Amino acid sequence: MRDISIIGAGKVGTCLAAALAQKKFKIKAISCRSLSSAKESRKIIGQGKASTNNRQVAEEGQIVFICVPDDKIKKITKELSGYNLDWSGKVVLHCSGLHPAAILKEVKDKGASTASFHPLQSFPQKMADIHQFEGIYFGLEGAGEALSVGEEIAARLGARVILLRAQDKPAYHTACSFASNLLLSLLDIAESLLAKVDLQQQPPHSVLFPLVQKTIQNVKNLNTGQALTGPAARGDVSTIRKHLEVLADFPQYQNIYRQLTVHALQIAAWEKKIPRQKIKALISLLEDK
Ligand SMILES: NC(=O)c1ccc[n+]([C@@H]2O[C@H](COP(=O)([O-])OP(=O)(O)OC[C@H]3O[C@@H](n4cnc5c(N)ncnc54)[C@H](OP(=O)(O)O)[C@@H]3O)[C@@H](O)[C@H]2O)c1
Repeated sequence: MRDISIIGAGKVGTCLAAALAQKKFKIKAISCRSLSSAKESRKIIGQGKASTNNRQVAEEGQIVFICVPDDKIKKITKELSGYNLDWSGKVVLHCSGLHPAAILKEVKDKGASTASFHPLQSFPQKMADIHQFEGIYFGLEGAGEALSVGEEIAARLGARVILLRAQDKPAYHTACSFASNLLLSLLDIAESLLAKVDLQQQPPHSVLFPLVQKTIQNVKNLNTGQALTGPAARGDVSTIRKHLEVLADFPQYQNIYRQLTVHALQIAAWEKKIPRQKIKALISLLEDK
């Protein structure tokens, strides 16, 4: 089993290292910008030297994960390639969904095998929970040994792998953002609308949660089209008109509502849920500002 180093033991770096430690990988060293952050991560992972010295950390691991923010991957790679280290025999993986393995060119040129290794999951905090990797996909892209190592690690975590083409990564990552980050933006909008409703002391997110959970479950059991319910799926003109009236008090959400409802109507059209004439009438109501 090869030793692992983590450069950037933030949310992903810590969750990944903690899960790998539970799977009997040896986490040799981890680095953060601040020592206090590295020590916090070390406590969660349960092993490895906590450091702010990227050179030492890279030297310790045969597999080096770069888990810094996307905008810093290039800079860190340049920094690492400037150190007098033996990169041959090392595997370097980064965790960005957007960037390709080619962003690691400088260490590849020095002899490392490189790949991008993106966990298709949301990690909102540093924690030791191997279950958050079980059954997920890793978007893997690169070549050679790094690809095999990525596949092996994913399998050890109980995850699956999709082999991505480098040119597909931006579209792939935009899709991931819609499915997770922007879904959250929508939930935040729903919560702020509920702030005006008397929910008898129930917090908005608790009231919404069963609805959200069942909607997602329906997508899994059926598909997006068949899971669509609500006024767009029924062609309820008066309900949509009323929603637009409500949103007169929330002008910042109006365009989002209009555009997403038009999209929902297009889904309803593909699914043949309501007659085309009705869809046309509703789309012109939504596009009439
Ligand atoms: N979070 C997610 O849900 C998620 C999901 C899939 C993929 N990813 C990808 O995973 C990567 C990391 O994201 P994240 O959310 O885990 O970010 P994060 O929580 O902000 O962690 C970034 C870590 O990098 C460290 N860092 C920054 N500059 C550094 C430097 N010069 N040297 C050493 N360490 C440095 C930070 O140190 P400090 O703690 O001291 O600031 C922090 O620990 C990104 O490529 C992201 O796209 C994230």
